[in-house]
Amino acid sequence: MIFVTGGAGFIGANFVLDWLAENDEPVVNIDKLTYAGNLESLASLQEDNRHIFAQGDIGDAGLMSELLEKYQPRAVLNFAAESHVDRSIHGPEAFVQTNVVGTFHLLEAIRAYWNKLEGTRKADFRLLHVSTDEVYGSLAADDPAFTEEHRYEPNSPYSASKAASDHLVRSYHHTYGLPVLTTNCSNNYGPFHFPEKLIPLIIVNALAGKSLPIYGDGQQIRDWLYVKDHCSAIRRVLKAGTTGETYNVGGWNEKPNLDIVHLVCSLLDELCPRADKQGYAEQISFVTDRLGHDRRYAIDARKIERELGWKPAETFETGIRKTVQWYLDNQGWVANVQSGGYRDWVEKNYQDKIG
Ligand code: NAD
Ligand code: DAU
Repeated sequence: MIFVTGGAGFIGANFVLDWLAENDEPVVNIDKLTYAGNLESLASLQEDNRHIFAQGDIGDAGLMSELLEKYQPRAVLNFAAESHVDRSIHGPEAFVQTNVVGTFHLLEAIRAYWNKLEGTRKADFRLLHVSTDEVYGSLAADDPAFTEEHRYEPNSPYSASKAASDHLVRSYHHTYGLPVLTTNCSNNYGPFHFPEKLIPLIIVNALAGKSLPIYGDGQQIRDWLYVKDHCSAIRRVLKAGTTGETYNVGGWNEKPNLDIVHLVCSLLDELCPRADKQGYAEQISFVTDRLGHDRRYAIDARKIERELGWKPAETFETGIRKTVQWYLDNQGWVANVQSGGYRDWVEKNYQDKIG
């Protein structure tokens, strides 16, 4: 079996769902259930005993050791993190605690477990650490996209904490020989995305008749990847990646924020027109910029394509249409996030699944 940390979050939940749709290998999902953890996203696995959930903190090395000893996984995939840049600006401490200190304790628990493994079980063990393109800093308009050789230049407390975790992971390979893999991915979008991030926030606010906040001039560029493509990249790296290597994952899909917002508005105009027949773009509102806002990210994803044969299946046009439709079809999920009701999901629906 495999361990997934942070599997109740946006990408982690998509990964667990995809993993169990693709094969029968069980998953132990360890998640602290911060505000971003939502077990309702995994409701379809309620009766599926291939999914074992344990509420816990990656920084709790005692608990992590206990779980590793009990379940003897062949791999740990670390998605757990504080992930929202704006929150890191308002309150960086949780980012240092989870992303840096938490990753350190997780590494220590894994190192102790891995040291006791023998033969092929030891050789075949993998820690896959899920990281971000934000560790590379910001690009000028005509700079080439980030390759794996780009130097680390993190600019926000979030990206600095992720960079620190990447360095710790790298050092455990170099120093102790721990078989690690690191992926650095661009902006994801898709189902189960918490509506504090740009795309789900725009969809949810648009439907609620609220304003659509654009930071600064809206010309910041991100490289968007449909979340299921990220999941397939992680499966591929886990299977075929070379230990000690890092792999950049991206969608070849750079777009300014304002273009994204206009595209989402026009899809909503088509799929769920406003009662007054005005366009949703009417709700766009330019607001004060994010502090230290990175201007442009772009991933050069040639290494993972060349070495592992992975490339994204979705174009932005197909992925964003699926995403907008998903939010229209799952307004109950959104309502529970907004009311905070999703936090009761554990007590109401999941008690028998908690390890
Ligand atoms: P998310 O915020 O939606 O989910 C994070 C999950 O981790 C939540 O379920 C939360 O409860 C859990 N968690 C937080 N602290 C924990 C702790 N101390 N112990 C155990 N669980 C904890 O984040 P996401 O968008 O799904 O991102 C997942 C990973 O992918 C993160 O490491 C993030 O840095 C990275 N990443 C995200 C994106 C993106 O666009 N969202 C892009 C590249 C990389
Ligand atoms: O690049 C990968 C990163 O993408 C991940 O590592 C992070 O975990 C993830 O949150 C995401 O970070 P961003 O800061 O790029 O994502 P966010 O959705 O917060 O913002 C996307 C862009 O939209 C960014 O330029 C800020 C802008 N924005 C965001 C919000 C929430 C707005 O203009 N208005 C908004 O209300």
